[in-house]
Amino acid sequence: MAKSTLSASHFGKDFVWGVSTAAFQIEGESLGHGKGPSIWDIFTKKENTIRNGDQADIACDYYHRYEEDILLMKSMNIKNFRFSISWTRILPNGIGTVNEQGIAFYKKVIACCLEHSIEPWVTLYHWDLPQALEDKGGWANRKIIDWFTEFTTVCAMAFGDQVKHWMVLNEPMVFTGAGYFLGVHAPGKKGLKNFLPAVHHVVLCQAMGAKILKRLVPNALIGTTFSCSQISAYRNTKRDRHAAVKADALLNRLFIEPALGLGYPISDAPVLKRLRPFIQPNDMNDCKFNFDFIGLQNYTREKVKHSFFVPYLHAKIVKASKRNVKTTLMDWEVYPPSIFHIIEKFSAYSQIKKIFITENGAAFKDVVKNGNVDDQQRLQFLQDHILQVHKAQQSGLNVHGYFIWTLTDNFEWAEGYHARFGLVHIDFKSLRRTIKTSGKWFAQFLEK
Ligand code: FCB
Repeated sequence: MAKSTLSASHFGKDFVWGVSTAAFQIEGESLGHGKGPSIWDIFTKKENTIRNGDQADIACDYYHRYEEDILLMKSMNIKNFRFSISWTRILPNGIGTVNEQGIAFYKKVIACCLEHSIEPWVTLYHWDLPQALEDKGGWANRKIIDWFTEFTTVCAMAFGDQVKHWMVLNEPMVFTGAGYFLGVHAPGKKGLKNFLPAVHHVVLCQAMGAKILKRLVPNALIGTTFSCSQISAYRNTKRDRHAAVKADALLNRLFIEPALGLGYPISDAPVLKRLRPFIQPNDMNDCKFNFDFIGLQNYTREKVKHSFFVPYLHAKIVKASKRNVKTTLMDWEVYPPSIFHIIEKFSAYSQIKKIFITENGAAFKDVVKNGNVDDQQRLQFLQDHILQVHKAQQSGLNVHGYFIWTLTDNFEWAEGYHARFGLVHIDFKSLRRTIKTSGKWFAQFLEK
């Protein structure tokens, strides 16, 4: 049985508490109401891309049930709601004609949040690139800078008067790494030849999007988010330590350091020298932006070893399943000190104004029994991580908020509906929502 006496009040009244979601994972209505296809709509239809062949055409049906979910949040004392905007709901072809129904939908969502005193935190891009733009090369085509400018401008003009917290991107390392290098996420591309140009164009769009938002919504706070984990050597050998430094440069530093004006971490990850052909004269200046806040997203830690057989990198993550440690359903190690470590690591960048944890959470096998989901493992996971965040705050580190991933169970990308991360259970047949034990606990934690 989990025990924790900590409550939200111990963090002070200005500390921000919330939940995070993403459009593709919850909305459904995938091609209705004027929405165009995104790379995820196309990728999920391909064979052997998603566990059990699960589809997201309906997902949580949030497009039709957003009000119910916002009321759920209200009943759980959740005051901050992070969600993303589906690019193809706004611009079905990525650029050009605007779908007014899409604009109207997000306006209703935002109005509903505000009516119930819930602050909207909007992510512009949470992985669902328009397929029409992917057909022209997607993130690997430098023209994406113009396309992303157009999307950002439409969103800023449509929602800027109501939305005061914006995040440009969600986890650039994951969508470029999984989508353009490993091919396990949409659009399913592989290899350095796709990955490297995508990385550089993402880094440019990250700053470009932020500058547009700052100009069009001057009184808003502009951030962006990064996936990050504590990374250390598998064995205490020189070669493994070296491999860990390299992996850290790629997984934790690649996207933040150019924004801070530090350039790419080439000396620790020499493979990044291969970015040079894509870098034009003013680029390293253009990719700088002084963000109002940085969102960090942490789920686990990684152990890395030297591997002769991995081309270019010679470094390899040793899976948690091979390390005899406690894991979640995603096979990610449960290691709460990792979140303290990443807050400490990013607090050391003096240029970062404020850090929010914009995602943290866990998938476990949930069982519905007599209409209840008694998810003790998730409860323990959350309490242990929140305790580490508290320790970080008490140590004077630069952390100012914490968002749980996620409100309701949803479509977990390549894992489909198998991995449930929600504070609220969804029966994907009836779409009925049931607050889990962890959700009930969070509601009380926030009240005290
Ligand atoms: C993060 C993603 C989010 C969700 C969680 C489990 O990497 O940002 O959409 O899939 O992992």
